[in-house]
Amino acid sequence: MIQSGTIKIKEDEFVELKDIIYKNSAISFADSKKYLLENRLTKRLQELNFNSFKDYIYYLKYNVKKNEEMEILLNLVTINETYFLRERGQMDYMVKTVIPELQAKGKRSIKIWSAACSSGEEPYSLAILLNEAGLFNKLNIEIMASDINTEVLNTAKSGVYRTVSFRGVPPNITSKYFTKDGFTYKLDPSIKSKIKFFQANLLSPVVGSKVGKVDIIFCRNVLIYFDVDAKKKVIDMFHRTLGMPGHMFLGHSETLNKINDSFTMKNFGGGIVYMK
Ligand SMILES: C[S@@+](CC[C@H](N)C(=O)[O-])C[C@H]1O[C@@H](n2cnc3c(N)ncnc32)[C@H](O)[C@@H]1O
Repeated sequence: MIQSGTIKIKEDEFVELKDIIYKNSAISFADSKKYLLENRLTKRLQELNFNSFKDYIYYLKYNVKKNEEMEILLNLVTINETYFLRERGQMDYMVKTVIPELQAKGKRSIKIWSAACSSGEEPYSLAILLNEAGLFNKLNIEIMASDINTEVLNTAKSGVYRTVSFRGVPPNITSKYFTKDGFTYKLDPSIKSKIKFFQANLLSPVVGSKVGKVDIIFCRNVLIYFDVDAKKKVIDMFHRTLGMPGHMFLGHSETLNKINDSFTMKNFGGGIVYMK
């Protein structure tokens, strides 16, 4: 019989499930986050007619649909909080300083990777600011954007957003680049077409080759969910993926301290840029 309310996870089930999630995404759940898995996964267990996490774990491990279920599980447990022009200082620094410096060195093609882009607000913000600065007319700019969560990527590809994505966005930017349609805002196709979205797990051994060499990486507000070992692997991969010179931006609460010392760090006032 299906229980009403939250399905409780037993200690051994929690240990096994968080290990499965870690192996497939690098996301580590602290013991205090048990309730989060219960809250986020109860509905899914009920859809599958399970009333225990034991049955769900068995399904994840052995069912013929285990790969599809892993995708659904990761879509349910990732934290996808994002909004347009978030931590804008880093974006402005890229547009006003990093790219002009690369241009001055004779570079005519620039490749940017938004490596945990969630529903697309981050790469689209970069494209909007690059457009405002007239840089698409002067340079060949390629923007790639990836995430492990296929559901948020679908939102990103649709280019349709709700008000919550616009906190702090100047009204002139919203009216110039979006068309309001009821409660939603549709991104202008000229910006939408600038981004190439794809699904990628940052811990996958093939992710670097999917992207090729890039000049600038934005990987913000995702390393906080990883343990030290996973952070090291991801940052090593970014180091290999960046060309010379390469620039990398992390979230404001993220640091390379005790993770990697191959980058030169520069504090530009509005944040930090890591340079290869
Ligand atoms: C909090 S959002 C950050 C979005 C955006 N970078 C920002 O700062 O606004 C974190 C994103 O990391 C993604 N993520 C978590 N683990 C990942 C992994 N192993 N590989 C790729 N993306 C991952 C999540 O799906 C989520 O969309």
